[in-house]
Amino acid sequence: MLAKKIIIANWKMNLNLSETLALAKKFKEKFAGFKEGEVVICPSTLTLDHVAKIIKTGKLKLGAQNVFWEDKGAYTGEISADMLVEAGCEYVIIGHSERRRYLFENYEMIHKKVRAVLETEKLAPIVCIGETIEEKESDKRDFVLVEQLQQALSGIDVFGNQQIIIAYEPVWAIGTGTAIEPSEAEYAHKIIKLALNDMFGMQVVSKNFRIIYGGSINSKNVKKFADLEDMNGLLVGGVGLKADDFFKVVKEITK
Ligand code: PGA
Repeated sequence: MLAKKIIIANWKMNLNLSETLALAKKFKEKFAGFKEGEVVICPSTLTLDHVAKIIKTGKLKLGAQNVFWEDKGAYTGEISADMLVEAGCEYVIIGHSERRRYLFENYEMIHKKVRAVLETEKLAPIVCIGETIEEKESDKRDFVLVEQLQQALSGIDVFGNQQIIIAYEPVWAIGTGTAIEPSEAEYAHKIIKLALNDMFGMQVVSKNFRIIYGGSINSKNVKKFADLEDMNGLLVGGVGLKADDFFKVVKEITK
């Protein structure tokens, strides 16, 4: 796995423009001298351009929360991967469980998005996978994780320094305040790594993939996640809206 941990703050649809700019400025100050890991902020699409200008000279990177799979044409309301690159994005979240749930994003759509993003050669996908509570309770987690990975990534060529982030996010742990047991996260990451090794080979996996965890991480529970095997970072929601707490989380996980 790549050595540097990556911590991604997904601001979802929580902030208006002035709140976004204020938080981006705070983040920029906090992380001015930071070099232990990579920090990515994903504000709403409408604010990407503004945030890009703020963080241009600092250490932070920009990510988007969604992308469409075609590069241009009559697709009302959609935004292409090239448009995100143009706005200054280096990352984009794909297949977040909230989109799977509320927008009915399915395997095929997620697969096409991953493909379109990799084709730009300038944008890295953050592919979210994770089991629901029903799947967990019926012992289907491992199967579901492998299935979601295969559906998203089968037949995709990974080359050069292309990066792919796999975010393991148990759906039942998102936004609940209760994270998964760290040992369970470690186990799930192992399953993911083995499935990736099968699909792409160990060399590609260690060079091009990072596996991160997401779901109710906060400045208190993060300590227990820092030393897990195959833990290459975090995708956070709630705590990413508080600059001080988020900074603590990042410091702790990159120690
Ligand atoms: P949370 O969200 O940290 O608020 O649980 C995580 C996510 O949606 O990625």
